[in-house]
Amino acid sequence: MAGIGGSVAGRTWVAVIPDAIVLGGGAAGLFCAMIAAQRGRRILVIDHADKLGKKIIISGGGRCNFTNRSVSAANYLSANPHFARSALARFTPQDFLALVEARGIAYEERRHGQLFCQGSAKEILALLVDGCREAGVTFALGCAVQEVTRAADGFSVSTSRGVFTAPKLVLATGGLSVPTTGATDLGYRVAQRFGLALVPLRPGLTPLLINGTADLSGIAVDAVAEVGVARFQENVLFTHTGLSGPAILQVSSYWQQGQAVDIDLLPGRDCAAELAAASAVRATALNHLSLSLPRRLVEYRIGHLPAAQRPVVQLTRDERIALAEALQRWQVVPQASDGYRKAEVTVGGIDTDGLSSKTMEARAVPGLYAIGEVVDVTGWLGGYNFQWAWASGHAAGEAI
Ligand code: FDA
Repeated sequence: MAGIGGSVAGRTWVAVIPDAIVLGGGAAGLFCAMIAAQRGRRILVIDHADKLGKKIIISGGGRCNFTNRSVSAANYLSANPHFARSALARFTPQDFLALVEARGIAYEERRHGQLFCQGSAKEILALLVDGCREAGVTFALGCAVQEVTRAADGFSVSTSRGVFTAPKLVLATGGLSVPTTGATDLGYRVAQRFGLALVPLRPGLTPLLINGTADLSGIAVDAVAEVGVARFQENVLFTHTGLSGPAILQVSSYWQQGQAVDIDLLPGRDCAAELAAASAVRATALNHLSLSLPRRLVEYRIGHLPAAQRPVVQLTRDERIALAEALQRWQVVPQASDGYRKAEVTVGGIDTDGLSSKTMEARAVPGLYAIGEVVDVTGWLGGYNFQWAWASGHAAGEAI
């Protein structure tokens, strides 16, 4: 068995046994490796991809929404809504921002406190990779993992480039979304192998598919979308397959098959009362309401109602209510979500009940840690998922 080493072009190389192996060189794995190596730990990062941090590169439309000004456990979905609190409190958005500023990366604040690079997401990846290299982290890339087992002295990882052992193992293999970036279920499988429970997985931050709205494709409106207790006011975008845009992506993480999504196309307004107050308006309801929303959308929602063609001034109370409900209480039952291909995250994952919220170590398997998206902590859209990657990576990086 080797420590840090393997076989390249027929030549075997062996170095010291690392203190920890980090499986996955994405956001959480790189940050954890950097923090631990800065504390003097010898860290080996194994990734099957030929390049590190592929999701970081494509994130935020290439500008990486690397954190959010305001982050709390309330911005996350998890079977245990309190689990993320400790790690988030000990490594805050301001802490990550300090690293970004120290490196001179230009950034900008967008809506809802979202912080993006002004230049490129590559700058965030470079911050992490350079930080790792300067601290002495070793990388094994293009390294297919075959098996992970318990060894007398810790954990043993059999790979296409040899067998690596270390007293500690960190699972940082991310979720299932966007398989073309190299996403796999390895972390979930390894966790189950060691007896850790999984909270069922499903795609999150993903468009929702609905029939019959293809003609509305391209329309975007500010709206409220609600699923159960989740309520987001943001853009709703109509696509040729259904609904997308930030409000829909947000509620998609809460949506379960068969559930309705409630949409208010005129948020903050009382459409029925406004129609009642428009007592001098002789325009038809359709024409009048098309002043507030794209006409195609108004036709789609109220075109079938006889009241749509009647002058506003003649509408009865019941007609006003029917028109208002069609626009403000639209209940859509999506056929499905657009799946992992389009999802930004995976909801569910390694059950936090089995992990320490301080260190991310598995309670029943000393030396085994899980961080980032592979854990059942899923952030909203807006930089929250990277902040979880940094915070959980930091917690484990301080502990290993
Ligand atoms: P991550 O996916 O980053 O890394 C996992 C690593 O494990 C990868 O390097 C992978 O190759 C490796 N791996 C997987 N299987 C393996 C195996 N079998 N063997 C070896 N290695 C393996 N979030 C946010 O906060 N702001 C944003 O702007 C965006 N934007 C965004 C855009 C798009 C298109 C997507 C898909 C996602 C986002 N996200 C985001 C979400 C964010 O990218 C995600 O939550 C983090 O990258 C999770 O970090 P992890 O390190 O946990 O996984």
